[in-house]
Amino acid sequence: MLNVHSPLDMHVHLRQGDMLNLVAPYTARDFAAAVVMPNLTPPVTSLAQVLDYRQAILRAVGESFTPLMTLFFRAYSRAELLEARPHIIGVKLYPAGMTTNSEDGPADMDEARATLAIMEELGIPLLVHGEGCGFVMDREALFLPVVEDWARSFPRLRIVLEHVTTRAGVELLDRFDNLFATITLHHLLITLDDVLGGLMRPHLFCKPVAKRPEDRDALRRAALNHPKAFFGSDTAPHPLEAKEASGCAAGIFSAPVALPALAGLFEELGALDRLQAFVSDRACAAYGLTPIPRQVRLERRAWIVPERIGCVTPYLAGQTLAWQVAG
Ligand code: DOR
Ligand code: ZN
Repeated sequence: MLNVHSPLDMHVHLRQGDMLNLVAPYTARDFAAAVVMPNLTPPVTSLAQVLDYRQAILRAVGESFTPLMTLFFRAYSRAELLEARPHIIGVKLYPAGMTTNSEDGPADMDEARATLAIMEELGIPLLVHGEGCGFVMDREALFLPVVEDWARSFPRLRIVLEHVTTRAGVELLDRFDNLFATITLHHLLITLDDVLGGLMRPHLFCKPVAKRPEDRDALRRAALNHPKAFFGSDTAPHPLEAKEASGCAAGIFSAPVALPALAGLFEELGALDRLQAFVSDRACAAYGLTPIPRQVRLERRAWIVPERIGCVTPYLAGQTLAWQVAG
């Protein structure tokens, strides 16, 4: 038995419409709160959309779960951000074209600076999909100089490098006090070999793509030890026909297995006592959060992950997990 106090998933895609109603209950079941990404169609670029989306999420899950809302990065005025500030946890920046529904993000990172300066002044964190144009395995590395430049130019702007996948990305955390990172479950478990090394596995395809074993090792060390690295699943459901297609959508639906699989990994690494820090405490410290208290109990009782949840194949489908969320 293992109690986790107010587990937080600091990066989720809850989608819209029927998909929202299907997937959001899994995040709400296991987490006290979650940071909700704004890459909808159309993207969430106004306070009115933030409030509407928040209502839709609460309708799908009930009130015991707190959605922590984000705005999709564009050029915002000071007045817009000031008005939105009480309702958002941060602004998420997607470089144009880097992933699902990111086309409306900035193509030239210099254009972002004016809005970043306002965010710094107003104390609004920047969450960033850290990939630049280039060879797919190098995209995170190519973007790190931009992160460095922003961390140095805007020292009071809190920057979260979302779903960090490389050792170099992790190492950057030690160079800037204002830089943080989320780490997904799947990047702690797989490398590119699992995606492409044998049969091609569309349900393991995501952006950024999983990297090399040494990168995964660095992510594991950070998940266990780094005070500025915390959990963000990047759970990103797509319908089966979008995944098992000649052009496969990027995204792994990990919400149903996130907490149990993390417990299994931390146990295997002899670090179950550090799960609380990774899935809650460090995120609270980074964001200055005080989540509504909620105890989630994990039991060491085996179960088999279903092959299908509605129209979506969950991460680790068909596999046996040692831990499950009680009740
Ligand atoms: O694999 C991904 N899927 N990475 C992202 O950054 C976005 C996400 C999605 O929205 O499907
Ligand atoms: Zn994401």
